[in-house]
Amino acid sequence: PFVIASACIDVKDTACLEVCPVDCIYEGGRTLYIHPEECIDCGICETACPVAAIHADDRLPEEERPFLQINAEFFGPA
Ligand code: SF4
Ligand code: F3S
Repeated sequence: PFVIASACIDVKDTACLEVCPVDCIYEGGRTLYIHPEECIDCGICETACPVAAIHADDRLPEEERPFLQINAEFFGPA
């Protein structure tokens, strides 16, 4: 899945919400989260985010790795 990482925190542009074809991006607190099972890996949100907060899980920069878990855990334990 695609993952929303640190750059979104307190920015919350929500352009990603507008473009996601399956509505799998959810608001919560200081950032937004992508539901890992609902995401169809289209990549549209990555292009739409003005602060480049969204990455494919296999292209996450090292320091952003924890956000893979953080996005998944928002939706509860696996
Ligand atoms: Fe939605 Fe596509 Fe982004 Fe996944 S990659 S969150 S399906 S816009
Ligand atoms: Fe955040 Fe970028 Fe979406 S700032 S709300 S990931 S468009």
